[in-house]
Amino acid sequence: MIVITGATGNIGRALVRRLHGHDPLAVVRRPAEDLGGPYAMADFDEPETIGRLLSPGDRLFLNSGIWPGFVGAHRAVIDLAAAAGVAQIVAVSVRDAAPGARLGMGLHGQADAHLRKSGVPYAILQPTGFMQTLPRDVRDGTMYGSYGSAAVNYIDTRDLADVAAALLTSPVGPDREYLPTGPASLSHERIAAEIGRAIGREIRYVNLSVAEMTAHLERQGVPQPFAGELAELQAETGNGGWAPTTTVVAELTGHEPRTWQDFLTDHKDAFA
Ligand SMILES: NC(=O)c1ccc[n+]([C@@H]2O[C@H](COP(=O)([O-])OP(=O)(O)OC[C@H]3O[C@@H](n4cnc5c(N)ncnc54)[C@H](OP(=O)(O)O)[C@@H]3O)[C@@H](O)[C@H]2O)c1
Repeated sequence: MIVITGATGNIGRALVRRLHGHDPLAVVRRPAEDLGGPYAMADFDEPETIGRLLSPGDRLFLNSGIWPGFVGAHRAVIDLAAAAGVAQIVAVSVRDAAPGARLGMGLHGQADAHLRKSGVPYAILQPTGFMQTLPRDVRDGTMYGSYGSAAVNYIDTRDLADVAAALLTSPVGPDREYLPTGPASLSHERIAAEIGRAIGREIRYVNLSVAEMTAHLERQGVPQPFAGELAELQAETGNGGWAPTTTVVAELTGHEPRTWQDFLTDHKDAFA
């Protein structure tokens, strides 16, 4: 059986569809008939509810959003998977994850470190930013950020689902990290222009200093210290470190990563 946590998320929904016919079990917090496959109710906040679903030889897709209990919950589920004799965990992390790093990178860094020591065979996906999260950054025709003018990579989460499906349905390979990326990296000014072209109205990218972006995020209700850390993180990822692309998607899935045009054609309405 392939047990899929985060099944109602961006990657999870696409993955459930890809794994049709491969004995998938979606893990959800509330009934999810719309997933179109078998599901079980469980919650990372009660890790044993997920542990109970695991049997020897299962493959586990380990993913969820981030919340303050993330590290403890993911560590507990990894331990329960080890005790259950799970054959492999394919986990979603993030580029530059490391214990002590900012925000989600630090949380993922701690969870990744625990997985590496768990004894369970693993594949850790460390992707760049998700194209699917961009619609929430565009408000009234404007996208604010402190990325500067450097190119930043984004990946379509459907490609991450394809990568995970390839790993989960082939024989368990050696433990390793994968750094999947999307197609050519673009500056945020270019990304805004591409979105504008796709939806037929002008979208502007406005670059702010870290202090200005912090204040902007606070006005939107993001509390400190997260607002400041997020603004600094944007400035850091805009230093060119998230620009290089890899061939991971093509190597594992046999197709090139989806382009900005592919994403925008299918998600135009999300920017309305
Ligand atoms: N956004 C980015 O640009 C980016 C870049 C790199 C890496 N990542 C990483 O990608 C992951 C998110 O992936 P995604 O976009 O596919 O997910 P998503 O769309 O954010 O959805 C989060 C999923 O996690 C589930 N979840 C959250 N808390 C849970 C809990 N306590 N128990 C059970 N399920 C829980 C949610 O279930 P409900 O539907 O019940 O809420 C949902 O299925 C995060 O770890 C993030 O750090 C994100």
